[in-house]
Amino acid sequence: MEETVRKIMEPILSVENLSVHFSDKPVLQDVSLSLWPGEITVIVGPSGSGKSTLLRAVNRLNELYPHCRTSGSVRLRIHGESGDVYRGFMALSELRQRVGMVFQTPAVFPFSIQKNLTLPLQVYLGVNGSTLTERMEEILRDVGLWEEVKDRLRDDATTLSGGQQQRLCIARMLALKPAVLLLDEPTASLDFKSAARIEKLLLNLKRRYGILAVSHSLAQTRRIADRVCVLREGRIVQELDHEHLRDPDAFQTIIDVAF
Ligand SMILES: Nc1ncnc2c1ncn2[C@@H]1O[C@H](COP(=O)(O)OP(=O)(O)OP(=O)(O)O)[C@@H](O)[C@H]1O
Ligand SMILES: [Mg+2]
Repeated sequence: MEETVRKIMEPILSVENLSVHFSDKPVLQDVSLSLWPGEITVIVGPSGSGKSTLLRAVNRLNELYPHCRTSGSVRLRIHGESGDVYRGFMALSELRQRVGMVFQTPAVFPFSIQKNLTLPLQVYLGVNGSTLTERMEEILRDVGLWEEVKDRLRDDATTLSGGQQQRLCIARMLALKPAVLLLDEPTASLDFKSAARIEKLLLNLKRRYGILAVSHSLAQTRRIADRVCVLREGRIVQELDHEHLRDPDAFQTIIDVAF
């Protein structure tokens, strides 16, 4: 029993003493945070405080910049095993599969809706034949897109609305069987209704994935966050958990710092 409780309470992801420099400029300093099962953690903070850099550090995307230097650790737990992604826990390609990322502007591939999903399924997971179609439908249902696109699967993905494109991007990320979802202001380019659909989707997905999201909206943070980390000048200056978030005054304390 104790073992079960301990496993449930282990974080899916632990960022420990993470620091990132671009050239000589410190952008993140000594950042630590954990992602817990069943929770959405939202990072808030002023523009330039390091929110996107923090997400990109988790899946080692900052390494695309040669002048970037990272120290500290990012421990990921997959199927009961955990390890530091900066110390060879898994190959980079597997890391990008296990830790999916969605950006502010939906970035669909410039080919059909169907192929946006079947290509990653075939290439990364070797799914083929009838399983491919079944899996595609299952994922599109997961993100609430199936009914909207089932009769136009061969249409170019760029003909979808912004909100539909963002859900397709989330679907593509889910296709790769991730453990952690990174979302960098996923609704920033969407209208209110499309944003509300994505928020609802995230609230459903949090039962199955560790979710780390960046938001620029206080109202959105209030609606979706189970835990809030406030970043300022590259440091976490405040962390609000369940208990704090139930306190109506708690958000007031972060408004001046983060929004
Ligand atoms: N590739 C890069 N090379 C050099 N500096 C960078 C790079 N990426 C980010 N920075 C710098 O790091 C700091 C943090 O940037 P980051 O994009 O993480 O901020 P942010 O909190 O996401 O801001 P915003 O809310 O505007 O998206 C900024 O000063 C930015 O100029
Ligand atoms: Mg950003």
